[in-house]
Amino acid sequence: MQHRRKAASAPAPAAAKQAPPRRPSAPLSVAGLVVCIFLVATFLYSEVKPASSPSSSSSSSSSTTTSSSGGSDLPLPLETTEAAAGGGDGGGANGRDLQEASPHHPDLVEQQEDQHLEHQEEDEVEEETRTSKSGSHEQQQQQRKEEEEKNKAVVRLPAGCELYKGRWTFDAAGEQVPLYKESECEFLTEQVTCMRNGRRDDSYQRWRWQPDGCDLPRFDARLLLERLRNKRLMFVGDSLNRNQWESMVCLVQSVVPRGQKTLQKFVNNGSLNVFTAHEYNATVEFYWAPFLVQSNSDNPQVHSVMDRVIAWRAIAKHAKNWKGVDYLIFNTYIWWLNTFEMKVVKGGGRHHQDPDLQQGGWSKYALVDRPIAYREVLKTWAKWVDRHIDPNKTTVFFMGVSPNHVV
Ligand SMILES: *[C@@H]1O[C@H](CO)[C@@H](O)[C@H](O)[C@H]1NC(C)=O
Ligand SMILES: *[C@@H]1O[C@H](CO)[C@@H](O)[C@H](O)[C@H]1NC(C)=O
Ligand SMILES: *[C@@H]1O[C@H](CO)[C@@H](O)[C@H](O)[C@H]1NC(C)=O
Repeated sequence: MQHRRKAASAPAPAAAKQAPPRRPSAPLSVAGLVVCIFLVATFLYSEVKPASSPSSSSSSSSSTTTSSSGGSDLPLPLETTEAAAGGGDGGGANGRDLQEASPHHPDLVEQQEDQHLEHQEEDEVEEETRTSKSGSHEQQQQQRKEEEEKNKAVVRLPAGCELYKGRWTFDAAGEQVPLYKESECEFLTEQVTCMRNGRRDDSYQRWRWQPDGCDLPRFDARLLLERLRNKRLMFVGDSLNRNQWESMVCLVQSVVPRGQKTLQKFVNNGSLNVFTAHEYNATVEFYWAPFLVQSNSDNPQVHSVMDRVIAWRAIAKHAKNWKGVDYLIFNTYIWWLNTFEMKVVKGGGRHHQDPDLQQGGWSKYALVDRPIAYREVLKTWAKWVDRHIDPNKTTVFFMGVSPNHVV
């Protein structure tokens, strides 16, 4: 953190809505955004799953998927988020490097091994055969089909392929990128629709990540959704991770027909946004927790707070919403760029003291150097991960630095 360039000027929260002038690094940043998602996505389908998955017994033969997970079947109209484009203040860093650390990262080298896709559900045609009767012949046939499906839902990378070492390449011909067009994704918020906001040059979408020793397979939304069948993928963090979430939603939504996908914002009036691909019973979610730990800026809609104060030991209130998720991608970044010192509430929120409920609330705080505060927050977070995450079920990523935004 301490190496990051500070924003030259103080943040201007309620800036005008127009697209800001771009610096030369902007194209990279936006492309980086897509690629970050892509790396996570690639990881998702090439991931090795333990054989002991909860439902290989598949009681889900009655997968009446459309009505499975509540929620209305109609896409909700998009609300503009961010009362005052709040998340985007400050950042002057150019987020070129993608760093991912994952405490529970299966060995990438093993990717070529045979893999188990845990939930093998059939499409409707196969369902019919299944319900008719289950003679041994049909069982065999079904098994074969499951095998085929399994193979389809796996991306094989050359052994030893190191996804994280590589470079950005400009795909001038647009052969592999962009992976989606802004105009084709109804779920983007106004804040991130560069073209609609008046940007003329779309070359920023032509960057792609090229690993040094191998090629990335082309992104395939169906494959990803197959891997996410009956699962939850959640981004947790600040507005940069929300961008990643929006990109991920756009990456997968194109293969889901209308009426089969919904986006619910501020679920239960809270910090959670959920995109659901109903046919797959899969969700791609975003949980707003800009510091991961509790802060006085946790209201997902009104968070342009003058004095941002954190409680560096208090995480339970947010974290209870992360339990049971299959893939968690955390970040906390952009709001650390604003000041050299962080305001840490007195007591730090220890012993489950929720500052929201304490006398004095957030008004009593100490100033702490950023690197120290950041370390303490990560400690709180890592402890929570160690105690509450079952590595057999959940894969955890931490996004260290990611492409920034300026509004
Ligand atoms: C849908 O997915 C959730 C997890 O996201 C799971 O708990 C539930 O059992 C799934 N429903 C069906 C019908 O498989
Ligand atoms: C949601 O929160 C807003 C703002 O805090 C409040 O005005 C509204 O009544 C809440 N809605 C529900 C359904 O609780
Ligand atoms: C995870 O799975 C392995 C092998 O199946 C097992 O030995 C281990 O106890 C499991 N860990 C947890 C925390 O359930």
